[in-house]
Amino acid sequence: MVDVRTNLAGLPLATPLMNASGCRCTTLDELLQFVWTPGMGAAVTKSMTLLAREGNAKPRYGETVHGTINANGLCNLGLDMYMHHYEKTLSVFSEALPTFFSLSAMDVRAFEHMLTKLAKTQQDVPPLFEVNVSCPNLVGGGNGALDLVHLSRVLGLLHHYPQFRFGLKLPPLFSMALTRRAADIINLYAHVVKFVTCSNSLPKGLLIGPETDKPMLAPNGGFGGVGGVYMKPVTLAEVHRFRQCLDKGIQIVGCGGVVCGRDVYDLLVAGADVVQVGSTLMHEGPTCFTRLELELRGIMQAKNILRLAQIPKLTAP
Ligand code: DHB
Repeated sequence: MVDVRTNLAGLPLATPLMNASGCRCTTLDELLQFVWTPGMGAAVTKSMTLLAREGNAKPRYGETVHGTINANGLCNLGLDMYMHHYEKTLSVFSEALPTFFSLSAMDVRAFEHMLTKLAKTQQDVPPLFEVNVSCPNLVGGGNGALDLVHLSRVLGLLHHYPQFRFGLKLPPLFSMALTRRAADIINLYAHVVKFVTCSNSLPKGLLIGPETDKPMLAPNGGFGGVGGVYMKPVTLAEVHRFRQCLDKGIQIVGCGGVVCGRDVYDLLVAGADVVQVGSTLMHEGPTCFTRLELELRGIMQAKNILRLAQIPKLTAP
């Protein structure tokens, strides 16, 4: 019998599969759907900000057979509402499906505000957070590239909250040297950063609607973050390169380009510990996890691999 159990930052996971933040995880109803879905090992919320946000004008999401484009503009219910949902509902299910928050903020002070609130509350809060330093879609906001100074400041802040464990959601980094520099900085904070998620969507994409001959998206002049099949080789490279550069104690969450079990398996071979699913979840709904788990088990069984730890990993050159 193939065993696909694993862990993320010490939390036991039934499978290595979870949603990518932003995908079907904004409302309580959507998050509860995950709890009832076989195949998921963990769940993460939509990136939340201190205050609720409406997000950008619609259409702000588009799809082709190869993937998706989005410029949602951080539409979310706000930290207080997610804390309320966690306390009243999600914590009850967290043993069956560990559910953690994705935190986003425009600057380090806003991150500090959110973390202070989470640290001070008497309520039950998740033990783990994915800190998003990579949102590409704020009108007039950043360009989706990694700012190493901002990253260092955020890490310096996380260091003050040793009671929590953190992951970092990064944008794709387009050179070997940049990944090395980012990893060198992150390695200094291995006591608080337990995983790196690579990567967020490809920033500054553009897709044209076949009927309208216009950009699929209304905000940001049609530019948005691209996900799906378009991303697969980028994600594999990010995962593999980070595995070469990060300390062994920091896990890697692969995100981008997962359509079938073979894509999950490839990311595990490249060095991922956990795999997130975005565009496929948007298109197919949460039952994609049930299918992906079965497909992964089938591949492992055919190769006579009984546990995830036995999957042959790419070696460093
Ligand atoms: C949004 C998109 C992202 O890629 C992200 O990391 C956070 C928010 C958005 O447009 O809502």
